[in-house]
Amino acid sequence: MQEPAAVLRQWIAESGNIVFFGGAGVSTESGIPDFRSVDGLYRQTWSHPPEVMLSHTFFETHTEEFFDFYRRKLLFPDARPNAAHLRLAELEREGRLRAVVTQNIDGLHQQAGSRNVLELHGSVHRAYCAACGRAHPASAINAGTGVPRCACGGVIRPDVVLYEEALDDDTVERAVRAIEAAEVLLVAGTSLAVFPAAGLLNYYRGRRLALINLSETAYDHQADLVIHEKIGEVMKQV
Ligand code: APR
Repeated sequence: MQEPAAVLRQWIAESGNIVFFGGAGVSTESGIPDFRSVDGLYRQTWSHPPEVMLSHTFFETHTEEFFDFYRRKLLFPDARPNAAHLRLAELEREGRLRAVVTQNIDGLHQQAGSRNVLELHGSVHRAYCAACGRAHPASAINAGTGVPRCACGGVIRPDVVLYEEALDDDTVERAVRAIEAAEVLLVAGTSLAVFPAAGLLNYYRGRRLALINLSETAYDHQADLVIHEKIGEVMKQV
């Protein structure tokens, strides 16, 4: 019986059509806490539950507090790509990885050199005016204090999908097409607890779904290979 990492190494070596689907657990080895692990953002005590503070309603009704929480807890300007990000970018350069589908908003895949990155939940590196829609540099939010304003008077907001908001249709469509066509689907660093993102896995039609996650997920039984280890360590071996 082959070691799971050896099986994964073989799947990756044999495939020219790999798709990666990841979550916050891909960035914890870069120093960015995830959400639902014991030391995750959602396990800390807040005035309101973080899922509330990261909602569209809270952004509208508690705008000052929203930006305070956002700047303190969602921005990690010093974070750098880790071994997982770097190996995925290398697989793309080798023409064997077709897309990175991520729930993360930290931009570390692009920093590592990945080019086809489908950001289901947006990015802290983009911002726009909630009133007139004009694009603004993320520094208008990240480098400032208080509620950033557009020349039109509207609030400049991060291009991040908040709770109660829809995902970008084009991004979802591209992610579905990539997953449907994938020969190998690598799923890593995600509790698969948030929909519609987690539901995209159901579009995969192959028999090489590898799930690399420190904790168990509801999809473990559906995976063809399960590895409960650190994604950075695993990706160093494949
Ligand atoms: N290697 C592998 N798995 C890891 C690692 C690691 N180094 N570090 C953490 N994990 C696992 C944890 O065990 C956990 O199951 O990653 C998973 C992270 O799960 P969540 O914290 O729920 O993050 P995620 O799945 O990305 O959350 C989805 O929820 O709040 C929303 O928009 C937010 O995009 C986020 C979405």
